[in-house]
Amino acid sequence: MAPAKGVIHMSNIIHPFEAPAGDGMENDVIEAILTRHSVSPKRVAKPGPTRAQVKTLMATAAAAPDHGKLRPWRFIEFPESSRTALADVFETALRERLPNADSEALSRARDKASRAPLLLGLVLRLNRTADVPHVDDQLASGGAALQNVLLAAHAMGFGARALSGQAVRTQAFRNALKLDDDETFLCFIAIGTPTSAPRRNARPAPESLLSQWTG
Ligand SMILES: Cc1cc2nc3c(=O)[nH]c(=O)nc-3n(C[C@H](O)[C@H](O)[C@H](O)COP(=O)(O)O)c2cc1C
Repeated sequence: MAPAKGVIHMSNIIHPFEAPAGDGMENDVIEAILTRHSVSPKRVAKPGPTRAQVKTLMATAAAAPDHGKLRPWRFIEFPESSRTALADVFETALRERLPNADSEALSRARDKASRAPLLLGLVLRLNRTADVPHVDDQLASGGAALQNVLLAAHAMGFGARALSGQAVRTQAFRNALKLDDDETFLCFIAIGTPTSAPRRNARPAPESLLSQWTG
């Protein structure tokens, strides 16, 4: 049976000691990376990932490189039952930032809580005083966990987007999520079934990203 489109098969992962032939472009994993694009939470609907798929998404996050095995990040899920409370938090956060925000702006802020069937939050807990692993390494680990989840969601056929927004830095938001002092809410990850054709951003030319150090 032909493999379902967008589904990565383990047999297509290049294993150690198998010299990859050609330019690798025919590989499913590489194709998934190259075709991944963000999908706005406004352009996704139910169904979201099943519980088993959510578990797989977390397993992909756990596969992120992690210097010193600190796992300097964690995920929070905002289930459907929490969305009204989250809308309240967004409203309070906007009032904190803009005390004169009008009802339209407050309503737009609230709406953000109801978008996307699966809404995750990615929290960094960085040890800024450690020499090893340096905080930059820890930050890169969080970025890799984020990318793994975005990519895995795309490979499963979902649309996903990372979104921070200004609310996440407000005290109201931090308090509501009970973030520790050393924690930063990096972003939400909104995931669902795409409702419109893909909109892909142009990517930089590969050659423009690489230079050679010649001593
Ligand atoms: C941590 C993080 C937070 C982001 N927050 C926002 C945001 O609040 N608003 C926004 O429009 N894009 C945000 N982006 C960018 C989008 O998620 C997306 O990467 C960008 O639009 C490029 O689209 P692409 O992934 O298809 O290349 C964020 C990206 C990252 C990595």
